[in-house]
Amino acid sequence: MLLLRDANTPAAVIRREDYSAPAFWIDTVHLSFDLDAAKTRVLNKMTLRRNPDVPAQALRLDGDELNLARVLVNGAGTSFKLDAGQLVLENLPLEGSFELEIFTTCAPAKNTKLMGLYVSNDSFFTQCEAEGFRRITYYLDRPDVMASFTVTLRADKAKYPVLLSNGNLTEQGDLEDGRHFATWVDPHRKPCYLFALVAGQLVCREQRITARNGREHLLQVYVRPGDMDKTEHAMASLINSVIWDEARFGLALDLERFMIVATSDFNMGAMENKGLNVFNTKYVLANQATATDIDFANIESVVGHEYFHNWTGNRITCRDWFQLSLKEGLTVFRDQEFSMDLCAEPSARAVKRIEDVRVLRTNQFPEDAGPMAHPVRPDSYIEINNFYTVTIYEKGAEVVRMMQTLVGRAGFAKGMTLYFARHDGSAVTCDDFAQAIADANPDSALSKLLPQFKRWYSQAGTPRLATTTHYDAAAQTCTLSFAQSCPATPGQEAKEPFVIPVSLGLVGASSGAALPLQLQGSSAAASDSHLFVMTQAAESITFENVLEEPVPSILRGFSAPVIVDFEYTDAQLLTLLANDPDPFNRWEASQRLALRCAIASIAADAVTTGTEGLDDATIAAMRSVLRHPTLDAAFKELVLTLPSESYIAEQLDLVDPQRIHAVREAMREQLASELAADWQWAYEAHCQNGGYRPDTLSSGRRALAGLALSMLCLAARRSGDTVWPGKAYQRFKDADNMTDRFNALSALVHTGHALATPALARFHSLFKAEELVLDKWFALQAGCTDRGGQVLPAVRQLLKHPDFNIRNPNRARSVIFSYCSANPGAFHRTDAAGYVFWADQVLALDAINPQVAARLARALDRWKKLVEPYRNAACEALKRVAAKSDLSNDVREVVSRALAD
Ligand code: PHE
Ligand code: ZN
Repeated sequence: MLLLRDANTPAAVIRREDYSAPAFWIDTVHLSFDLDAAKTRVLNKMTLRRNPDVPAQALRLDGDELNLARVLVNGAGTSFKLDAGQLVLENLPLEGSFELEIFTTCAPAKNTKLMGLYVSNDSFFTQCEAEGFRRITYYLDRPDVMASFTVTLRADKAKYPVLLSNGNLTEQGDLEDGRHFATWVDPHRKPCYLFALVAGQLVCREQRITARNGREHLLQVYVRPGDMDKTEHAMASLINSVIWDEARFGLALDLERFMIVATSDFNMGAMENKGLNVFNTKYVLANQATATDIDFANIESVVGHEYFHNWTGNRITCRDWFQLSLKEGLTVFRDQEFSMDLCAEPSARAVKRIEDVRVLRTNQFPEDAGPMAHPVRPDSYIEINNFYTVTIYEKGAEVVRMMQTLVGRAGFAKGMTLYFARHDGSAVTCDDFAQAIADANPDSALSKLLPQFKRWYSQAGTPRLATTTHYDAAAQTCTLSFAQSCPATPGQEAKEPFVIPVSLGLVGASSGAALPLQLQGSSAAASDSHLFVMTQAAESITFENVLEEPVPSILRGFSAPVIVDFEYTDAQLLTLLANDPDPFNRWEASQRLALRCAIASIAADAVTTGTEGLDDATIAAMRSVLRHPTLDAAFKELVLTLPSESYIAEQLDLVDPQRIHAVREAMREQLASELAADWQWAYEAHCQNGGYRPDTLSSGRRALAGLALSMLCLAARRSGDTVWPGKAYQRFKDADNMTDRFNALSALVHTGHALATPALARFHSLFKAEELVLDKWFALQAGCTDRGGQVLPAVRQLLKHPDFNIRNPNRARSVIFSYCSANPGAFHRTDAAGYVFWADQVLALDAINPQVAARLARALDRWKKLVEPYRNAACEALKRVAAKSDLSNDVREVVSRALAD
């Protein structure tokens, strides 16, 4: 047998403009696996033919860490060579189809990258997106090559009783020596990144459903034997997903059988393999004892997301990986809409929208302003794994949402129908998608502005929308003037104007009423809200019959992923917070109020100028939201939560993380003590919620009770009161659900109360057998509020804990990422020890799992904004990582972009 190691090829830049169609097509693939953890044998029989549109050339098949044993063409031996990991065949038939047979082996037990075929808890799993299939067999590992797959799995029957792959089970039976086999045929052609197999000791919850169109389907959720009692919610979410996609978009399930399988070892959230979705256990397993409301909500979105990929991603896939947002942006948009449509109350829809925007602004805006900034459709990459980003996913979803805003909900549904009519079964581009939505709506603004609109795909960076208003009391007109700009990003100095849909309204400054909007020069009837489609660098619009001085409510519902710069007065913000009919902008007003207090405190010598903390009017406004008779608890919780440290940091040119941390903590303590009586009321009014159900209404009540309890414990810390920490401990012990239990535990841990220690010990012993709960236990400690530098030593101890395992991505994330990426107040230390720890962990992880390491590497993305001594220390840490000669491409790309000038 020929043993082949990876060639040490230098990292090449892949460019979108270099795309060329494949020289060969693969029509059918028969894969036979002899599964063995140490050495799995893979026989790959393909039928291929030349692509007549491309000049005749050699066949180059991708491979990675494979041992090649045999290559046959039409049953006979052939000459081949290996070049930079690729298997190259020069002398292939010029005409017609031919059969290629490749026999390789791989070592799943040694596969710590979790790409390709790997072992987790004694079962086999695969992960092929983006380029993992080449770690299973030699192949044209690119999404525009779609083939029909037949898969035979053979394995020891006792160890691996369940054998799964994509499509339908056509045959199964016993073999000699205690082995058995199963053959699966996928009725749909697919790119290899959607291939999957699973083998192991698994049990499943199953449900038969009849779709609207009368077709019957078998739905299954596979888990390890002890986890059956945590599968009900995932199954319910799957059923809801099937129903929703058919109802909203007319997209029916196209498979007899649809399977979800959970694994503890997974790099990402989940994967949409055709008919065989593989999930991180975190996004499947839940019951009230082990999962929080947030976990339940995430499971619903991720199950939906992967299911919706069955059409947006699988039936129509990406031509190349630059088009990743074609499937991801669209599918995130679809899962967001799904979760919103499942909300019973309009207010719950608004809460979901606020949460989604908060994710975008705290994660994507910094990405767009940092060294890894890239367009929604990137122009180049070194490692595609680094481009599964918040820009591709969340900003991509906002781009799709703007299209829906421009063509209307019904118009968007028509556009989707046209998209499938045109492209079903093929591999296409973002242009094809936008074209279909526009063509289905020929009279829409989208159709008229399409080339300009598509700048959202090609230009990186977050646009800023500078806005001013002029009210002419005599003429009763109000003019809003807008100027857009977009900062330079790596490789893109100057930007052209975007199409920005600005949803807006006017609120009476004294009456608080929603003022009717009568656009000057328009005969349309007055309305409460107006969609202004901005296309120029600077533009203005005027409203007439504005009877009172208005406060502008700009970018309602966050109608575009931009930053609005408007010099609101405090009074104007208070008016919006109290009266804006748009719940998003109502929340936004509260954030602006808190943000401006934070920034003033950070900037000035705030103590001497007396501007420290939240001002009285903001406190009073927060109190009236908290006590409001009709607002939802979930909405109150969002308003009363101060902007995060990282969001505050984004507003500043120079970042002193310790100062931000200190100011925000001081503001939290202020809110805690000045509203003490209100928090007590809020806690008591929301702590009883009857039998547990993870619905939006009771989740919101639990969230508000949780915030109230943490505020009461924080106030107690200052006053020395022991009543509330005692109550928190009691609630921690007595809670009948994980949400209340964990909120109580967090309140004790974050305030550093003495009861935190016994509570943490008790929590560990209660849940020592529940790995997802242990992740929470680790994450809480690593994410704990820093009070004088105690967190880092605690994190170092956690790494030595017997339950810590750096090879398990969830566990690594729960400790290392919770500290480095989610706890800025503890991570940015004046002694640089946080950065030293970061560099050590990036290097340790890189040797095991480069994808996970590269995500951690991004924790120092924004080092150039830091003040000294942080800036220099961060730079040193980055350089130390970059100096390692055998870094993965993944980490190398991230640190070299961070260090580039
Ligand atoms: N395609 C997956 C999703 O978004 C994400 C993923 C990417 C999972 C790469 C694994 C590897 O649904
Ligand atoms: Zn996805």
